[in-house]
Amino acid sequence: MGPQTSLLTLIIIVILLSSYSILAKPKPNHNLIQQTCKNISESDSNVSYKFCIDSLQSDPQSHCSKTLEKLGLISIKLLRHNVTDTRVHIKELLKKNKDKKKKFDPFVKECLSDCLEVYSDAMATIKEGIKDYKAKRYGDCNVKLSSVIDASTTCEDGFNQRNGVVSPLTKRNNDTFQLSAISLWIINMLNNKDNLKEGEL
Ligand SMILES: *[C@@H]1O[C@H](CO)[C@@H](O)[C@H](O)[C@H]1NC(C)=O
Ligand SMILES: *[C@@H]1O[C@H](CO)[C@@H](O)[C@H](O)[C@H]1NC(C)=O
Ligand SMILES: *[C@@H]1O[C@H](CO)[C@@H](O)[C@H](O)[C@H]1NC(C)=O
Ligand SMILES: *[C@@H]1O[C@H](CO)[C@@H](O)[C@H](O)[C@H]1NC(C)=O
Repeated sequence: MGPQTSLLTLIIIVILLSSYSILAKPKPNHNLIQQTCKNISESDSNVSYKFCIDSLQSDPQSHCSKTLEKLGLISIKLLRHNVTDTRVHIKELLKKNKDKKKKFDPFVKECLSDCLEVYSDAMATIKEGIKDYKAKRYGDCNVKLSSVIDASTTCEDGFNQRNGVVSPLTKRNNDTFQLSAISLWIINMLNNKDNLKEGEL
């Protein structure tokens, strides 16, 4: 009984300790994400708490992001990924349109072409926004990401101009809208913090 029991005890202790450290480590970061998402969803009724949590936690890097600054960069990169993917998706829809049997209504095709344009611009804008963000030019970054949020509403509104037309991009536009709003909220927090610091000097 003796040696075997103590070996077993030792193994259990090791397992407990390692699972404890695995469970305990990401905690502060989860708190940062939860607190940030709670604050955002409370101040902006267009951002859902669940969407915010799911998005920010979907990035493996977010688990080691201890600062709002890192979380902000993650949110902008998620946005970039979304916008890039949506642009490709619109291109594919337009390509399918060449197939006669699947031809869209000319109005829908026109809307899709407009969306392709605004999303292409948005991609370039986000790229510049990331540079601004990294250089802590939060004011400039705010201007750029505000235009990305406009891209999502411009695209969606196009389809809504005609009764009976259903936008094939509603979910994607909504995702882009919410991700931009999350990024903008974080940028404005960081900007306010910097301004406060400057005021102290
Ligand atoms: C969230 O809001 C609370 C209350 O205003 C504030 O104390 C906290 O610092 C905020 N947290 C983040 C991450 O913005
Ligand atoms: C929510 O979105 C709508 C539609 O884009 C906009 O008019 C409104 O100002 C937004 N609300 C907030 C709190 O940002
Ligand atoms: C866009 O981001 C949202 C939230 O992170 C995610 O659920 C969705 O799958 C993304 N969409 C694309 C097309 O990448
Ligand atoms: C995005 O979708 C959510 C859930 O369907 C909805 O509550 C929210 O109002 C939508 N936001 C916009 C800007 O359309």
